[in-house]
Amino acid sequence: MEIIIQSYFITLLTLKLKHINQILFEKSFSMKKSILITFALAFSILLLAQKQFFKPEKLIETGVYYYPEAWNPDQWDRDFKKMSDMGFEFTHMAEFAWAQIEPTEGVYDFKWLDKAVELAAKHNLKVILCTPSATPPVWLTKKYPEVLVVKPDGQTAMHGTREQYSWSSLKYQELTEKVVEAMAKHYGNDKRIWGWQIDNEPSHYGTLDYNPSAQEAFRQWLKKKYQTIDALNQAWGTAFWSGLYSDFDQIEMPNAGRLISGIASPTSMVDMKRFNADACAAFISMQNKTLKENVSKSQFVTTNFMNNHSDVDPWRNKDLDFISYTMYPVAGYTNGVGNQGFRMGDPWLISFSNDFFRSVNGVTGVMELQPGQVNWGTYNPQPYPGAVHMWLWNAFAGGLDFICSYRFRQPLFGGEQFHYGMVGTDGITPLNGGEQYSQFMKEIRELRKLYVPNVPIPKEYAARKTALLYNVDNVWETTIQPQTSQWNERNHITKYYSCIKSLCAPVDIIDANKDLSSYPVVVIPAFQMVDRALIDKWKQYAENGGQLVISCRTGLKDHNGHFFEAPWADAITNLIGGKIVMNDMLGPNMKAKVAFDGKTYLWNIWGDILEPATGAETWATYADQFYAGKASVIHHKLGKGTVTYIGTDSNDGKLEEAVLKKVYETAGISTNELPEGVIVNWRDGFWIANNYSSSNVTLDIPQTSKIIFGTKDMSPAGVLVWK
Ligand code: GAL
Repeated sequence: MEIIIQSYFITLLTLKLKHINQILFEKSFSMKKSILITFALAFSILLLAQKQFFKPEKLIETGVYYYPEAWNPDQWDRDFKKMSDMGFEFTHMAEFAWAQIEPTEGVYDFKWLDKAVELAAKHNLKVILCTPSATPPVWLTKKYPEVLVVKPDGQTAMHGTREQYSWSSLKYQELTEKVVEAMAKHYGNDKRIWGWQIDNEPSHYGTLDYNPSAQEAFRQWLKKKYQTIDALNQAWGTAFWSGLYSDFDQIEMPNAGRLISGIASPTSMVDMKRFNADACAAFISMQNKTLKENVSKSQFVTTNFMNNHSDVDPWRNKDLDFISYTMYPVAGYTNGVGNQGFRMGDPWLISFSNDFFRSVNGVTGVMELQPGQVNWGTYNPQPYPGAVHMWLWNAFAGGLDFICSYRFRQPLFGGEQFHYGMVGTDGITPLNGGEQYSQFMKEIRELRKLYVPNVPIPKEYAARKTALLYNVDNVWETTIQPQTSQWNERNHITKYYSCIKSLCAPVDIIDANKDLSSYPVVVIPAFQMVDRALIDKWKQYAENGGQLVISCRTGLKDHNGHFFEAPWADAITNLIGGKIVMNDMLGPNMKAKVAFDGKTYLWNIWGDILEPATGAETWATYADQFYAGKASVIHHKLGKGTVTYIGTDSNDGKLEEAVLKKVYETAGISTNELPEGVIVNWRDGFWIANNYSSSNVTLDIPQTSKIIFGTKDMSPAGVLVWK
């Protein structure tokens, strides 16, 4: 009943949001009411189907990883008690425990895990159980060595770490299915089990698998996709360097290490990435199916993809209840903002993952959040005091339903010895991150008292709602043929994301097939591979009143990665209101200039030189080089909306931010330009600000605001929560 009532309210809310948007678009969208209602209903049902696992009034639940198999059983009771006393509400176990669960083939031992589950429950901790497929036991890989990944250099992966198995190995699939089924049958109706995580960070951590079963599965995949070898030859463009095939059996997965000069057919490489991601998704789906057939409907099934996954694609696993992600903002790989930014991470990082993974099924959580100092970076600095607390609030702000810390105890042995836990090497004393978790969980318990259901999203904030279009094919394709070593599609996309967030707009990172009509602004960064239907859809969106922003490297190729047999960028010329005459790029140590609204911006990665059509405005121009004075950014009206094309990829994203600001303002959408490094999100009636900068900032919030935690004067890693 509760669900039906909630469904009704969500439907109303959805309709209300639609209504706001309609006003915004001055009734420019002519979507029929009945379609709207059906859409809203379907959306609410989907949302509720997933929300059943989480209670809105809990806002967010926080838990922590535990490895009972690594600790003396005499300490388990003490450890679970400590977890509970620190404020945790759930624990997470067994993702690496195949050797303990199935010590010899077909013989399962759940006694130890039963005991751990019992003790967790005794201390009021729910349990997320995991399938252990990431770490096959040694008996398995010795008996069935054919299941192991074959690395690009021909070496067979060995026992000792993880993810060493081939997704395509039928034997491995069979053995995994058996252990998953045994676990599901044992725990599937156990009320103490909250849900399931499949595998761990499904990926091969950047290694490509050339196992013979993967090679064969690739050929089968190609046969299914192309049907005939002629079609494959056409798509792969094999009339180049004598690449022609006469039979699918001749095909091997492209392997850079075995090629003499240049790259293999880029299409063949994109296909390999597509196949690889499909193989991973199928392996996860197989486990999902086995679990679903055996576990109660009240237990969720998810998996935890890495936030910066590269060869796999979380969006291919929409069959799971939701997808969660893993997050480590500080491990020596970023400078962040200011001289202490390397201790806080990039301001956009957690928000980006929230908005990316939530898009899959409407719900997400962070399954691993950095607890403090880690061990695996090129160097591993201490996070800035308070940074862990800030990450927790940033995760909350993105609408997450749960947060899980990696891990409870600092390991005394194994490959991650220097990795902090919630408690240190003595197993009992909270480390600085552990204390910050406790503080956060205490604050959330306070916040729950202030929770009011179904508070509508503030009007001005909703009016800025922006969709960022994403398609993993473009990431793969531009990585294969980057044209400049400086091109990094993910950096380009996150640069745009960061610009939008610095204007305080809520963002959904969405699939290009999704309906765009509810977004006042849609940003399309470097969407290189397109088709006619997609361009028409974008055109229609603008004509109906939307503000479309497109960046360089969009619309150049078809889905096979071929240029169109037409004038350069012809597919988007009408849409963007101008021609792309050529593009240019400079070396990493050279800088060129673009002038926009009285300021100059530096760039060197990519610059499209544009020629606006009649009626289009030139917003920015190149300020030097032999094309000085030519257009870099153009803008034109299209139907009831506008299209802005940003041809230059600036070094610090400031050009993009300034142009985006102008797009919103020209369309009458207010923005709230935040101090550098500050992120502000709204969730469930609360505003949350995080200061990732290395300086103190004073946040300008309305006089009428009621501050719940923090102060308007925010120090680095500060958090401010207000209503
Ligand atoms: C994650 C991984 C965990 C653990 C952690 C250490 O990427 O999923 O199992 O290794 O890193 O930071």
